[in-house]
Amino acid sequence: MTTPIIQTTNLRKTYMLGKVRVEALRGVDLRVEKGDFLAILGPSGSGKSTLLNMIGALDKPTEGKVFIEGIDVSTLDDNGLADLRRKVGFVFQFFNLIPRLTAKGNVELTMAIPGLGKKERGKRAEELLETVGLKERVGHKPAELSGGERQRVAIARALANSPNFLLMDEPTGNIDSKTSKEIMALVIRLNKEKGMTTIVITHDQHIAAQAKRKVQMLDGLIIREEVS
Ligand SMILES: Nc1ncnc2c1ncn2[C@@H]1O[C@H](COP(=O)(O)OP(=O)(O)OP(=O)(O)O)[C@@H](O)[C@H]1O
Ligand SMILES: [Mg+2]
Repeated sequence: MTTPIIQTTNLRKTYMLGKVRVEALRGVDLRVEKGDFLAILGPSGSGKSTLLNMIGALDKPTEGKVFIEGIDVSTLDDNGLADLRRKVGFVFQFFNLIPRLTAKGNVELTMAIPGLGKKERGKRAEELLETVGLKERVGHKPAELSGGERQRVAIARALANSPNFLLMDEPTGNIDSKTSKEIMALVIRLNKEKGMTTIVITHDQHIAAQAKRKVQMLDGLIIREEVS
C-alpha cells in the first residue's frame, strides 16, 4: 500500500470553555491519496472545520496525529510548518479577505514563490483572477465585490502558491447555484489537470455528488464513507 498523502490517526480535539468540555473531534482516522477529491459532509457542529484546520496545520490536535506527505506534523518546527503551509491552499468558511487591498492585492499577498519579483507577482495574480473569471475585477476591493466574486478571489488566493493541497471550507456557502457550479467546475478541472488533492466541506448535495469520495461526519466522528 502506498503512503497516503494525508493521514490522520485517532485525531481528537477537545475545547475547554470554562468548565464545559466540547469534544469537537473524537477519534478521526482518515486517509487521503494523492489526487483524491474528497467531500466532507455533516451537520453544523459535527467537527468538519476543526478537522480541516488540523489537516491544514492551522490548529493542533489534543490527541492523535496528522501526517502530511508521510511527515508527522507535530514534529515540524516553525520553518517546517511554514513550508507545509505554503503547500496548502486554504479557502476559509468566511473568506478572510483583507478589506483595504484590491482583489489583485489579496491574491498577491500570500505569494511566496522564491525569486518572483513584484512585476511577475502582479502578472500571476491577474492570471489567477482571470482563471476564476474575475479579469474585469482585479482592482476592486472586497466591499466592491459580490459574495460569489469574493469567494472566487479567496480561491484565486488559495491557488497563488500552486498548492499540492486545496482545502476548502464551504466554498460555495454564500453564493447562488450558478456561480457555485462555475466555481466547482473550476476546482474539478484543477483536480483533474494538475492532480491537486482536494478536500471540500459542503452542505450542498450537488457539490458533494461531484466528489469521488464522500465522508459523512457526526458528533466528531466519521460515521460513513462512500466512494463513487
Ligand atoms: N475555539 C473553539 N472553542 C470552543 N469550542 C469550539 C471552538 N471551535 C469549535 N468549537 C466547537 O466544536 C464543535 C465543532 O465545530 P466545527 O467548527 O468543527 O463544526 P462544523 O462541522 O464545521 O460546523 P458548521 O457546519 O456550522 O461550520 C462545535 O460544537 C463548536 O461549537
Ligand atoms: Mg465549519
